Amino acid sequence: MTLDFLAPAYVWIKALHLISVIAWMAGLFYLPRLYIYHMQVAPEDVRSATFKVMERRLLKAIMNPAMIATWTFGLLLILTPGVVDWTAGWWHLKFASVLAMSWFHHDLALARKAFERDERPRTERGWRMLNEVPTVLMIIIVLMVIAKPF
Ligand code: HEM
Repeated sequence: MTLDFLAPAYVWIKALHLISVIAWMAGLFYLPRLYIYHMQVAPEDVRSATFKVMERRLLKAIMNPAMIATWTFGLLLILTPGVVDWTAGWWHLKFASVLAMSWFHHDLALARKAFERDERPRTERGWRMLNEVPTVLMIIIVLMVIAKPF
């Protein structure tokens, strides 16, 4: 199913999609890094309270709206006539990677609530490893949408 009236707006929707992607990715790269720093301070340390504020604002003011906007404009692109060729394999790998990215976002949101309760989810090493997940997914997605290799 496609919507003909979206066709003239194609380039504008794509631009808004990419602007939202950049804002979302900035948060996905930075929040795990904040968690690594947060792991290094004791719950009673005054810096822990500062990290909680930074984490809450980053997630609620930037990452959540940016993820919603990325999905909204991405789905509008899917509904634009002639944009997605469903027979192409690259599209399915992009979509699977985007679902994984959204799952990662959800996992970060659960961890934020745990840090808020002065828990320490995972280990510092665990966060350092997870920190690489959005980078790998972003590389896969960009290679798929730009090179369309299969
Ligand atoms: C959240 C769900 C998403 C959906 C439903 C979606 C869907 C789409 C669609 C349908 C297009 C148009 C493809 C074309 O014109 O050939 C597109 C373009 C693009 N998307 Fe997404 N996308 C999503 C998330 C992402 C993410 C997370 C990234 C990067 C990390 C991304 C990067 C891009 C890029 C770079 C383009 C431009 C490709 C070109 O120049 O044609 N998208 N997206």
